[in-house]
Amino acid sequence: MRHLMSPMDFSVEELDELLSLANDIENNPAKYAHACAGKKLATCFYEPSTRTRLSFEAAMLNLGGNVLGFHSADSSSAAKGESVSDTIRVISSYADICAIRHPKEGAALVASQKSGIPVINAGDGGHQHPTQTLTDLLTIYSLKGRLNNLKIGLCGDLKFGRTVHSLIHALIRYPGIEFVLVSPEELRVPSYIRTDVLDAHQIPYHEMEKLEDAIGDLDILYMTRVQRERFFNEEDYVRMKDFYILDKAKMTLAKEDMLVLHPLPRVNEISVEIDDDPRAVYFKQAQYGVYVRMALILTLLGIQVD
Ligand code: NCD
Repeated sequence: MRHLMSPMDFSVEELDELLSLANDIENNPAKYAHACAGKKLATCFYEPSTRTRLSFEAAMLNLGGNVLGFHSADSSSAAKGESVSDTIRVISSYADICAIRHPKEGAALVASQKSGIPVINAGDGGHQHPTQTLTDLLTIYSLKGRLNNLKIGLCGDLKFGRTVHSLIHALIRYPGIEFVLVSPEELRVPSYIRTDVLDAHQIPYHEMEKLEDAIGDLDILYMTRVQRERFFNEEDYVRMKDFYILDKAKMTLAKEDMLVLHPLPRVNEISVEIDDDPRAVYFKQAQYGVYVRMALILTLLGIQVD
């Protein structure tokens, strides 16, 4: 039985297969419409979510399966003090596969150790968010045609932003990747990622504070919101929240074929005035999230469609 805790759980070859399955699903949806008939996906969300939970549910419904679950800790027995381990043991007898989101780092891993069904980490605190990374990789691959030889700017809350952490882990395995890490000093990428991931693999990167200085030679700009819920005090959040605002003026400095990605939700960091710019692909990105989650569910359940 296989779980997904981090994007590193798949080899580059397995990721290639998953992305081409997602492409096939996008192009031939009817072929997959009954692939999961009789199967159930449980979504166990202890933290708010729109895209991740609903795209998981849409993915399972598109595959002809069913969904069950809860969308807040308050509406589950966590409110009575039940542990994640006990909850997953029980859910293992109700469903065939489970996606879990939890505010604590490592919660999905703990769940997977007690689970009788495949567990997918749908976000664990400020740690990892592997299915957002699968979505990001599919978006870049589909719209840019490659995952190698890219200069990627990651901008915003690089400290608490789990999507950034997972994306860095995944991309370092492709040749010719260079990162520009754009953040205020207090929200830099955690030092364990700089030393154990970037330095350890000799990945070129620069750290900058001003987006204007970085944007000109990027192939991809990955914007993120400041993660309010992970700050220790509101004052710090208020000071940081509007540090970056990507607007038309900044976009004039960017290459004609640079893509702007964002895992969403957006707060103020991307002005709505650039939503119609063809380089702004974040809504398309959310759509790719469904195809890649369909591919992931099929892969973890070991279902092949000819
Ligand atoms: C992200 C998350 O939950 O980490 N959202 C998502 O899943 N698309 C990003 C965020 O909340 O900022």
